[in-house]
Amino acid sequence: MKQTITALTLATFLCSPIFGQSRIGTGSIKEIYTQYCASCHGANGEGGQGSSLIDGIWKYGSSDEEIAKVIREGVPELGMVPWKGTLSEEQIRGLIIFMREQKYLAETTDLLAKVMPKDGIFTTEYHNFRLEKVLEVDDILWSIAFLPDESMLLTQRSGTLWHVRDGVKKEVKGIPEVRAVGQGGLLDVAPHPDYKKNGWIYLSFSQDVGAKVDGKEASMTAVVRGKIKKGKWVEQEDIFIVPPEFHTTKGGHYGSRFVFDDGYLFFGIGDRQESDPAQDLTVPHGKVHRIYDDGRIPKDNPFYNTPNAYKTIWAYGNRNPQGMAMHPLTGDLWETEHGPRGGDELNLIQEGLNYGWPVITYGMNYNGDPWTDKTHMDGMEQPVHYWLPSIATAGIDFYEGDSFPGWSYNLFATGMSAEEVQRIVIQNKKVVHIETILKNQGRVRDIETGPDGLIYVALNTRGPNSGALHRLVPVEK
Ligand code: HEC
Repeated sequence: MKQTITALTLATFLCSPIFGQSRIGTGSIKEIYTQYCASCHGANGEGGQGSSLIDGIWKYGSSDEEIAKVIREGVPELGMVPWKGTLSEEQIRGLIIFMREQKYLAETTDLLAKVMPKDGIFTTEYHNFRLEKVLEVDDILWSIAFLPDESMLLTQRSGTLWHVRDGVKKEVKGIPEVRAVGQGGLLDVAPHPDYKKNGWIYLSFSQDVGAKVDGKEASMTAVVRGKIKKGKWVEQEDIFIVPPEFHTTKGGHYGSRFVFDDGYLFFGIGDRQESDPAQDLTVPHGKVHRIYDDGRIPKDNPFYNTPNAYKTIWAYGNRNPQGMAMHPLTGDLWETEHGPRGGDELNLIQEGLNYGWPVITYGMNYNGDPWTDKTHMDGMEQPVHYWLPSIATAGIDFYEGDSFPGWSYNLFATGMSAEEVQRIVIQNKKVVHIETILKNQGRVRDIETGPDGLIYVALNTRGPNSGALHRLVPVEK
């Protein structure tokens, strides 16, 4: 009898919330999760570059065995690494238990709550600000652009272009069909610098032209321009379309931010998760491209006369350029790109130069396997800055407004996995200071100065996907 009571008491104790919460979601498996999975699936399993592991949605089946299979085999074409060579069966089993615990914790605790500063005011070296929500969308918000009439265009990655006026959003109908799989979908949007005269708006997206590789659907980054008339996308012209033989089955690394400069259009395309093509001048992958803004190819491009080269290449050896901006005073072209684990880069892009991927990098494989010990090589450029750990770099912008005078001409860089905005001070083409001004408010995908001088940021959450446009509003110090 005595024994029964003891067992019962112990059972009660084990099931008590205090004991339960101190045990579940912790332990060495959590460390394995943090080390190997969190960079793509979020610190708590909420999702990031990889899907949410706590939303109860299991694309490959919800049974323990089906989940174990995905972890073992991965989904290489969509960026999920196979783990069978790295993790033991016991560890994989532990991870399944951990993911199920995380789901429970997310439902029963404030595990995913955002950390708001005291009084809702963010304090930084030069300016304090509030974060004000402008509007929400129901998928990933990819890009923000302002038109001269102070209305705004937003891309929602799943394939919607929004035109926003006075905080009210209207869908622009008739945009091209996008392949919204993996990291693909509707990507960048930007008006032509002479938009007032010509009305051109540029879009980049992952395009499916029916190309197949080994029977599987393939896609590639494409650029078109068109006009918005009476709420409709019209007069579309192809600006940069890649022939089917260069399309790939991989679902990531589409790159694609636009920079206009004096009749030229710059944009990047990532290595499409195939690494080596970034060094191959005959393919468009892993490059920064330069074309005229009407799509023609400038004859003075650095590889225009190189036999078999892809003539639009301006620079190469880029893994996945997802941030690009021109310094408003110097005209220097700055780019951020996703490295592998631990090698996100800030580069100063110059004509004809090789930025080294995949030969040199500061990162390693996501599964912890080394990639290379080579961080330098003759004939290859060093990043001006690299992030270790990676922040998952996305949109960047130089601040030119009046609302935050202490930040004039600083570069603002977004980080998705780190949920950060960093203020970067550049002097003589070198980074001299970095301050994180926003943290833990969502995955920051894009940043743009508004005509009101305020700073607009696209904040996303995964599981389920949703996006919200916010702005930083100054508050007296
Ligand atoms: C380099 C990024 C990356 C890393 C690291 C990574 N994953 Fe993934 N994972 C993904 C992506 C991307 C997907 C989504 C694939 C798709 O959409 O089909 C995914 C999918 C999954 C799925 C399937 C989800 C579903 O809906 O069925 C599971 C389970 C999973 N990952 C577990 C893990 C675990 C456990 C780890 C760590 C050991 C891990 N992943 C590490 C990128 C990653």
